[in-house]
Amino acid sequence: MSMDDVEEVLVIEKCSQSNPWTQKNFIDCIHAKYWNYVFLEENHLSPILGFCIVMPGVEELHLLNISITPALRRKKIAWRALEAIEKTGLEHGYSRILLEVRRSNEQAIALYEKLGYLVIGARKDYYPMKESALTQREDALVMEKVLK
Ligand SMILES: CC(C)(COP(=O)(O)OP(=O)(O)OC[C@H]1O[C@@H](n2cnc3c(N)ncnc32)[C@H](O)[C@@H]1OP(=O)(O)O)[C@@H](O)C(=O)NCCC(=O)NCCS
Repeated sequence: MSMDDVEEVLVIEKCSQSNPWTQKNFIDCIHAKYWNYVFLEENHLSPILGFCIVMPGVEELHLLNISITPALRRKKIAWRALEAIEKTGLEHGYSRILLEVRRSNEQAIALYEKLGYLVIGARKDYYPMKESALTQREDALVMEKVLK
């Protein structure tokens, strides 16, 4: 993901998340040199298919965000991307990937479970709810995959 991609990424983010990241969130990730990916078709002529942000730590990778453009879901794009990121993680000596996911996000939890992630904990009231329900918050599940 480059600065030029951020506008397109924001369109996907806004239709994928109830509390979307801001432009600054993405720019900060680029400045921090996280592993910031956009998913493209081989000819690179199509719009961005989706994106993923991974924060490398000392021993673990932290998956911060992943979204696929709605019309292209259930085509194994996220699956293939996360498998490729796991492979890259192993090659760089990382031993596990961690992530947080909304307890209600069944589609993402199904994806992570299918990839072999396990729930290792929960963070109470971690996420804000939609703008219409600012006083309510939602728990996060913490999931982990050991890389081998
Ligand atoms: C979650 C998300 C990234 C999945 O991307 P995707 O490319 O559609 O997922 P894939 O096609 O790679 O799915 C792989 C497997 O995950 C599971 N899965 C994915 N989406 C699912 C859904 N809506 N319902 C049930 N299972 C689902 C299935 O097991 C699927 O395999 P199958 O299609 O053979 O049954 C996508 O739905 C998305 O962008 N959601 C909005 C943003 C979001 O919630 N991000 C995660 C934040 S933690």
